[in-house]
Amino acid sequence: MNEVIKNMQERRSVRKYLPRQVKREVLEEILAAGYASHNAGNRQQLRLVVSQDPEVNEHIGRAHSILIGKFNHFGPSVKLEDADFSAPDLRSAFHNAPTVLMLFGPRNFYFTDADGYIFAENVCLAARSLGVGSCIVGEVLDAFSDDYGRDLLHKWAIPEAHRSVAFVTLGYSAAGEKPARANKYTSPLWV
Ligand SMILES: Cc1cc2nc3c(=O)[nH]c(=O)nc-3n(C[C@H](O)[C@H](O)[C@H](O)COP(=O)(O)O)c2cc1C
Repeated sequence: MNEVIKNMQERRSVRKYLPRQVKREVLEEILAAGYASHNAGNRQQLRLVVSQDPEVNEHIGRAHSILIGKFNHFGPSVKLEDADFSAPDLRSAFHNAPTVLMLFGPRNFYFTDADGYIFAENVCLAARSLGVGSCIVGEVLDAFSDDYGRDLLHKWAIPEAHRSVAFVTLGYSAAGEKPARANKYTSPLWV
């Protein structure tokens, strides 16, 4: 089978990582695949933050978990300001990944989410082809909506007209390779 198609077909999300950090030159190669992805109107408006700061990743990952609740994707979530970040059963949505790619895009653009997730997928595929595991973590209700998050956005000079769009966790798998996922899609209708 063609190597590119094989990579796409066998790709799986990684949610258990070794502490070993991914080197910058490897990440740059991975990001180059992201920069080459389709983007609406070729506007190339996404802003990227590559975070290898464990404290930042833990806080934003916990904020994401608080907002999404227990797979309550549509429910009204708590406000981050009222949440208990040190609750014993609270786990970061970023698992223990040593690197988290954070994607930001313009609020008032129809295709911000599409651009973000297409970029994220290219990153995941490129990562896998270099032996790096990854998982897309979808943004839900703004993991940067407390003072901690707002301060980060200010420090990182993310424009106020931008919002967070998606995250990609990156690192070396601590659980080896999972088998390719079974296809549960209904067959296409050929007309
Ligand atoms: C938009 C989107 C949001 C996702 N959000 C999460 C998430 O919050 N946490 C997570 O562990 N995986 C997340 N994933 C990964 C999916 O759960 C995963 O792709 C799916 O279960 C299929 O498994 P596989 O990637 O191993 O084939 C997300 C994927 C997409 C496309």
